[in-house]
Amino acid sequence: MIPGQNPLCIALDTPDLARAVTLAKALSGTVGYVKLGMEFYYAHGPKGYAQVAAMGVPVFLDLKLHDIPNTVAQGLTSLMKLDPVPAIVNVHASGGRPMLTAAADAVAGRARLIAVTILTSLSDHDIHEAGYDPARNTAEQARDMALVVKSSGLDGVVCSPLDIANIKQATGPGFLTIVPGIRPPDSAAGDQKRIATPQAALAQGADILVIGRPVTGAADPVAAAHAILESLHGH
Ligand code: C5P
Repeated sequence: MIPGQNPLCIALDTPDLARAVTLAKALSGTVGYVKLGMEFYYAHGPKGYAQVAAMGVPVFLDLKLHDIPNTVAQGLTSLMKLDPVPAIVNVHASGGRPMLTAAADAVAGRARLIAVTILTSLSDHDIHEAGYDPARNTAEQARDMALVVKSSGLDGVVCSPLDIANIKQATGPGFLTIVPGIRPPDSAAGDQKRIATPQAALAQGADILVIGRPVTGAADPVAAAHAILESLHGH
């Protein structure tokens, strides 16, 4: 957890502009961040982003850039011109060190820059088929990529709840873990497989908890977010 900061990041996960704005407005006093992804940004661009950001809640703009260093740097330079600047942006760690350092230079501390290591949708078989080192499983690969991410000057990684301890141990304090796959004890897992409760993820050292459907799908999203925050008190 980042001292003094609300760790809840609600994934809005909608291409619907009005719904995203309504949710961001409702949640703005309660959560630390909202997350907008490709489905939203490709549909509504900087103008749609600005409408959500105007609700006052910091935005994690989850676009996962992955290209040659020059292209990623220029993409991030464009994102840094958004008003307000997103609180968090991200790239794929598999772009390699030259891309990661170019990304860090382009962002230059204006947003937190995070890398996706191994997508949690991939199995050991999948990454080996894709050409990754057959001697390393997904957890080992994610940990080793986190070390490259850190030494390239980025602020942290996205990881599953089950990988937090491993990555924190390898990277040391101050390197952020942003953790999806969070499920309050009473909510449905849906398609998430490697899940943890908000309390368990924080206890492992998670800094930001990315939660979507348990909040956005609730009859009262604000009440659901409040309940999660309440459950974290004392942790
Ligand atoms: O609804 P739910 O809580 O499962 O939403 C989780 C959010 O985190 C979604 O936006 C999903 O795309 C994202 N995410 C994830 N697993 C990852 C990376 C991102 O679930 N490894």
